[in-house]
Amino acid sequence: MENSSKPVIHSKLPHIGTTIFTVMSKLAHDCNALNLSQGFPNFPADDELILLVEHYMKKGFNQYAPMSGVQPLREAIAIMVEKLYNTVYHPEKEIIITSGATEALFAAIAAVVSPGDEVIVFEPAYDSYVPAIELNGGVAVYITLEPPYFNINWQQVKAKVTSKTRMIVMNSPHNPATSVLTANDLQELASIVKGTNIFLLSDEVYEHIVFNGVKHQSFCTHPVLKERSFICGSFGKTFHVTGWKIGYCVAPAELSAEFRKIHQYLTFCTNTPIQLALADFLKNPDNYLSVSAFYEAKRNKFLGGLKNSRFTFIPSQGSYFQNLCYSAISDENDFDLAVRLTKEKGVASIPVSVFYHKLNDYKTLRFCFAKDDETLERAGEMLSRINDIA
Ligand SMILES: Cc1ncc(COP(=O)(O)O)c(C=O)c1O
Repeated sequence: MENSSKPVIHSKLPHIGTTIFTVMSKLAHDCNALNLSQGFPNFPADDELILLVEHYMKKGFNQYAPMSGVQPLREAIAIMVEKLYNTVYHPEKEIIITSGATEALFAAIAAVVSPGDEVIVFEPAYDSYVPAIELNGGVAVYITLEPPYFNINWQQVKAKVTSKTRMIVMNSPHNPATSVLTANDLQELASIVKGTNIFLLSDEVYEHIVFNGVKHQSFCTHPVLKERSFICGSFGKTFHVTGWKIGYCVAPAELSAEFRKIHQYLTFCTNTPIQLALADFLKNPDNYLSVSAFYEAKRNKFLGGLKNSRFTFIPSQGSYFQNLCYSAISDENDFDLAVRLTKEKGVASIPVSVFYHKLNDYKTLRFCFAKDDETLERAGEMLSRINDIA
C-alpha cells in the first residue's frame, strides 16, 4: 500500500535553534544599533594580504588544494609554532589546514569520541563544542566557571574524570570568559591526564590576542599535553578575515592521521589561493606578533570610554571580547537586558548566559571590541549614559 505520509526527522540536535549570534546581529541590524555582539572585526584586513590572494587567484591557483593543505602554508605554520613555542610539528604529518577552526574542532572530536564517551567541557563554552560531541554520540560533562575571574578548580576537574572520559576540551584565551590559562594550569592538567587514555582538544584561536605582556600558554609547550592534544588555530581571528573561514589543526602524527580521515570527508580541502597568500603573509612574523598590541589598544579604548559608567569589569586578558557586569544597573536577566540595550540604547552585545547549558545568569554581557575606534568611542559614550534601565 502506498504510504503518503511524509518522512519525519528525528533530530540529532533537538534543543538547538538559531544561534544567539545570528539573533543579536539581526536585531542590531534591524535596530540600527552598534553591533558589538558577534565576534568579527568591522575594519579591513591588511591590503598586502588581500593583494596576495588576488595575485594567486589571477595566477590561476583556483582548483582543489591538496587534502591536508598546501605545503608552503603547512611549512609556514611549522615555522611559526617553532618560533613561538619552541617545539616542532612535521608539516607533512602533523599539520592540517581546515575550513576555519570550527571544522578543526569538529574533526578532532569526531576522530576520537565514540558513543557513550564522556567529554569534559568547561562552561561558559564556545557553542560548537557540545553539538559536535553529541553528534558523535558523546556525553558532555560540564564544569562551571564563574565570573568575574572564571578560575578553574583543578580538584573539581580531577573529580569529574571517570573511566569513560575520552577528551577534555579547553580554550585559552577564552571566549567568552576572556581569561587565559597559566603555566601552572597546564601543569595541573598534565598531572591529571598523564598516563590516561584522555585526549585533549585545545582551542587556541585567540593565541595571538593576549594582553599585559603575558605569554600565551600553548598546549604544545608541555610534553604531556602535546602528545595527546589536537590544537586548533584560526587565521580568520588573527588576520581580521573571519569570513574566509580558514584555520588549522596541529597534532602528533597518529592523531593527525585519524583527524585527516574525518577532514577528508567533511570538506576534503580548503580554498587554495587564500592558503598560498597566508603562506607568504606568515613569512613576516610582525604580521602575527603585532596583533596583541593592536587589540590591547582597542580594549583600552573601549574600557577608557567606560570610566564613568556603572558597569563593572575585570579587563579582558585575551581574545577580542570584554565582559561587563550590570548588576548595579538592573536586575533583569541578561538575555532580556541585551535585547533591550540593543533596541532602546543602540548597543548590541551577547548575554553570557547563552554559553551555559543551564543559562546561568550572572548579569554579565559580552562585548566584542574588534571594532574601529569611532565605533568603540560611540559605544563607550552610549553605555556610560546608562544609569539605570528599569
Ligand atoms: C573560541 C572560539 N573557537 C572557535 C571559533 C571558530 O573559529 P573559525 O571562525 O576559524 O571557525 C571561534 C569563533 O568565534 C571562537 O570564538
